[in-house]
Amino acid sequence: GRCVVAVDGPSGSGKSTVSRRLADALGARYLDTGAMYRAVTWAVLRSGVDLDNAESVTKVAGEVDLKIGVDPAAPSVTADGIAVDRDIRGPEVTAAVSAVSAVPAVREILVALQRQIIEAAGRIVVEGRDIGSVVAPDADLKVYLTASAEARAQRRSTENAADLAATAADLARRDRLDSTRAADPLRQAPDAVVLDTTELGIDEVVSRLRELLTG
Ligand code: C5P
Repeated sequence: GRCVVAVDGPSGSGKSTVSRRLADALGARYLDTGAMYRAVTWAVLRSGVDLDNAESVTKVAGEVDLKIGVDPAAPSVTADGIAVDRDIRGPEVTAAVSAVSAVPAVREILVALQRQIIEAAGRIVVEGRDIGSVVAPDADLKVYLTASAEARAQRRSTENAADLAATAADLARRDRLDSTRAADPLRQAPDAVVLDTTELGIDEVVSRLRELLTG
């Protein structure tokens, strides 16, 4: 039957790995909403419009043809037919994504698309920042993953083979931008189960979530 799991939390909290593994274990689909904000940001950068012009940024978000693959074994994103999986993780997109995702009209467009994907999938694990609070407030299970700033920077710099100090500074900057935006702050759902993954292994987190689902 239908089963929607919302996994929210900051970058480096283990969201992506946990969400994909959980989806695989449940025989469910997997949706990475961060990849959608990143793909729109890629399209905005390609179009050359001014990042500070909310109207132009919204126009790009409304016109770009996004296709999101929801297989947890092989997630994929295309924008206007171009595979952007690699580019959306690069430094240019990462530097600009907080500004693009702060535009309320961009969020409206992507939230509507996310709800369609969830509806069509039925069984799905959705990761992001506002899934339990905004996108799927009726989710069967809401999880909020956290980890210490040090652990998050360590994981991200290992994943991206990037400098630890630079990664820590970038995470701190994005945390600040993502949590102080004026419109639609990315809040933690009050009924989310909070798990600190600093000391927990992936297997342990996934099995705790499965226990929570089966009751
Ligand atoms: O999860 P990830 O680090 O790929 O997300 C990239 C950015 O997209 C975040 O820093 C945040 O600005 C934005 N985002 C968002 N809402 C979501 C998912 C991501 O605003 N549901």
